[in-house]
This record gives sequence, C-alpha cells and structure tokens, in this order.
Amino acid sequence: MKKTFWTIVTILLLGSILPSNAQPGYTPSEEIIESQQKFREYKLGIFIHWGIYSMLGQGEWVMHNQDIHYQEYPKLADGFYPVNFNAKEWVSAIKDSGAKYICITTRHHDGFSMFDTECSDYNIVDSTPYGKDIIAEIAKECKEQGIALHFYYSTLDWGRLDYPRGRTGLGTGRPAQIDENTYFDFMKGQLTELLTKYGDIGCIWFDGHWDHDQDTVEYYWRYDQIYPLIHQLQPGCLIGNNHHLNPIEGENIQIFERDIPGENTAGWHEGQVSTLPLETCQTMNRSWGYRIKDQDYKSINQIIKYLVSTAGRDANLLLNVGPQPDGRIPATALERLSALGDWMEANGETIYGTRSTLVPPQSWGVITHKDNKMWLHIFPEDLAKAKVGKTLYVPYSTDRKVKDTEIFSSKEKLSHKQYKEGIFITLPEIPSDCADFIIEINFK
Ligand code: GLC
Repeated sequence: MKKTFWTIVTILLLGSILPSNAQPGYTPSEEIIESQQKFREYKLGIFIHWGIYSMLGQGEWVMHNQDIHYQEYPKLADGFYPVNFNAKEWVSAIKDSGAKYICITTRHHDGFSMFDTECSDYNIVDSTPYGKDIIAEIAKECKEQGIALHFYYSTLDWGRLDYPRGRTGLGTGRPAQIDENTYFDFMKGQLTELLTKYGDIGCIWFDGHWDHDQDTVEYYWRYDQIYPLIHQLQPGCLIGNNHHLNPIEGENIQIFERDIPGENTAGWHEGQVSTLPLETCQTMNRSWGYRIKDQDYKSINQIIKYLVSTAGRDANLLLNVGPQPDGRIPATALERLSALGDWMEANGETIYGTRSTLVPPQSWGVITHKDNKMWLHIFPEDLAKAKVGKTLYVPYSTDRKVKDTEIFSSKEKLSHKQYKEGIFITLPEIPSDCADFIIEINFK
C-alpha cells in the first residue's frame, strides 16, 4: 500500500516536471550539434508566408477571422494560378538580401498544402489549376543557389474534420469528427514526405501549439513521436516550435515571435531565453501573409537596427515576406531585400558568424565579436538618448590587450584607453541618419 502511494506520488511529481509532450532523455546527435553551429552563423533568414489565402489579401488568418465555411474556403484553390511565380527569382532576391536560409510555409493553419502530398488531395498539385509543386521548385533553386531551406508546418488545421480542435477556427462550420489517430497519422505522413522528397531540410518550424493553450488538461501533441521521426528521417534537421514556451525536450532551436530574445513586447514570451540557438521572426510590414491594405513597411534603417539588435542578443532574424496571389514578392519588400543586401555586403563581417556573449546590450547599442575582433554597434538615436558624451564606455573587463580601435567603414583610428573595468573610446562625429554606426576593436 505504502509502496503504491509513493509510486503514485513519484509519477505525479515527474509528470509536473517533465512536460508530457517531451522526448525524455533527449541528447542532440553530432549532426544536430553541427547544424546548430551552422544555424547560429547564418544570422539572417527570410520567411515566406504564401498560400491560397493570399488571394483574399487579408493575411493568412482570413479563414478564422472571417469565419469562412470549410466547404467554401477550398474554392479559392480552384482559382489559384500564380502566373508570375518564379522560384529562381524568389531565391535570387532572397540570396541578394544576404540571407543564408529560407523558411517557407508548407501547410498553414487553413490546412492547404503547398506541396504535392499523397496524404490529402487538398494540395497545390491536385486542387489548383496551376498544378505544380512550388515547394519542389523552391527546394531545387535553393540547392542550386546554395541557400538552406527550412519548412514551416502548422500542427493545427481549420479545415480537417478529424483535427482535435482548439480555440481557433471554430467558426468554419466543420462537423466534429475528431480522430486524433487519423490526424496524427496524416501529419506524420506529411512530415515524412517533406523530409524525404525535397533534399536536405535545415529545420522543421512548427506552429499552432498555442491552439490548445486554454485546455484544462495539457494537450498531448505527441511530440515524443513526431520529434524522433524527424531526427530519424534527417539526423541533421533542426526542430523549432513557435509555442512561446520554454523549449521542450527534443527541440534544437528556440523561437521568438515578433520579439527580440529577452523582450516581451508582443506579450507571448514570459519564458526564459535558453542556451539553444535563438531565432526571432518578424514581419516587414505588419502582416505575415499578403494583406492588400498593409503598406506599413518598416524603413530599411528600422530593419537593419532590428537585425543588428537581434544579432546583439545572439539570435538570428527570420524576416518575413508575403508574396502576392500572382506569385510576385511585393515590390516594396523586394526593395528592402535589396537594400538589406547592400548593407550586409558592406557590414556582414560584423554580423555573420559572430556571437554577442561577452558584453550584454547597452543603452546605446549592442556588441558582437568574433576571434580577436569586437564590434560596437551604435544606434545614433539610442546614443543620443543615452547621453553618453564624448567617451564611450564598454564594460568589458579582460586580460586581452586592445591593439587599436577604428571606425569600421573608414578604418579611421580612434583613441582609446583600457582599464581593469573596461575600454573607453573617444567617439568621432556620428551621423544621425545611419542605422548602425560600427566601431571595431582589435585585440592583440
Ligand atoms: C503566428 C501566426 C501565424 C504565423 C506565425 C509566424 O503563430 O498564427 O499565422 O505564421 O505567427 O510567426
């Protein structure tokens, strides 16, 4: 009796410590550790949200937001014919931005698959007049142009009758024919296709977990089955999940939606910043999927500052574009990609492959470093607010000796003093209209 009592107590305690979804005892393989290292070096990726929802020009949540009936919504597919889609042009424009990877939506919450799948006819090949597998075309281009490919995959579905519905997509009129087994088999089937038909995939990027965040009993997403399947099919494929929680065992990167790690302006990230490689995803305007009325694009300086701030928190930026229904990336987004590319070409040395673990972010900017170099990224507007004066103090106490300090762009030397408590640099005139003024510190 006593023994049974303690067994039950132990099980309950363990249950409350280990999330029931976790892959207990997970240790990353050599391949994963290598992929994590590569991922950390990328620093910039481009997110693509594209689906049949783009035809309505109201973002990827339109089915839920407008309570569109589950039998009417699929009719969008009947007219989907993106005449101007050109994988080569997309991938070139993205590569020119300086991005090292692309993450594309393979199936979003509306349940429509943008790839050729045997698991359902509701896909771009079988249900649209276009009839081509755009994911295959992009995978081919990524390989040819040498850029990594990641797949976004929604774990929730507003169209399928068997999906164990959560708190969204309840107004689509679906009869409840919930069947967790058929739904999970469907997801496993699709993930198997995604990881066996399209070459090397850098990451599976899950989204939708929060659909069940108001359940009274923690929802069982079967990650303990799904995650090992991914690692078995592609041992180097990273797993990320946009669940807004602390990482669950088995995951290999931590994702922050619309927030730089450590900040919580969107109100979703009360958890901790983990030691996993980090990624922040952010929109270029206000929307993920194409929204016809949204011209509220961030300026190139705002985008650069966001990228640098993210790198300054040791994270990658996954910056989104939402292509139009005709298959073109919006012109303003293309302009931003190109301008970002120009900036990265000139300043990428201070971003790619760097870490930012030696000195925490300061009131005036952030600090990245690599080998014997350190870069101070000064944001003029923040510097003005910080009222620093003529001398910038870098709180880096080290035995390493500073050889010299210079303006990164012009190589003009600056005078500095090094003390036990840090490095002091005499600031030059800093133009107020630049996004990021970079000072390089060279150590002996
Ligand atoms: C949110 C949205 C989703 C979008 C994702 C990107 O989870 O629900 O539509 O794809 O963020 O971060």
